[in-house]
Amino acid sequence: MIGRLNHVAIAVRDLGVGTAIYRDTLGAAVSQPLPQPDHGVTVVFVELPNTKIELLEPLGDNSPIAGFLEKNPSGGIHHVCYEVDDIYAARDRMVQNGARVLGDGEPRKGAHNKPVLFLHPKDFCGTLVELEQA
Ligand code: CO
Repeated sequence: MIGRLNHVAIAVRDLGVGTAIYRDTLGAAVSQPLPQPDHGVTVVFVELPNTKIELLEPLGDNSPIAGFLEKNPSGGIHHVCYEVDDIYAARDRMVQNGARVLGDGEPRKGAHNKPVLFLHPKDFCGTLVELEQA
């Protein structure tokens, strides 16, 4: 059911430092920072030929990545995002297979203004998974 790898999201303490690593050291094209107050993060997109890397920096007091950065002070891979054709069909399939969909189970608008769901890491090999309707 899942399709392309849409992005890998990496949590960082400082987007300026992360941007410099990806732009200057690794030589990638990095976007301008995009604050996403609804998600409690500021994001930059690293465009690669076959996928994207998103660097996430906490935004606001209750950022969902604050706890992750406490446990991973150097930053780290926060989630992977796979594309699906139909987010509702994907959600139903997850529930049928006993996997936990985070939140109220209703898709939300993600970083690309497309509907997304997040799946519990304990049900997916210890990795937070985002599904995005491509
Ligand atoms: Co994401």
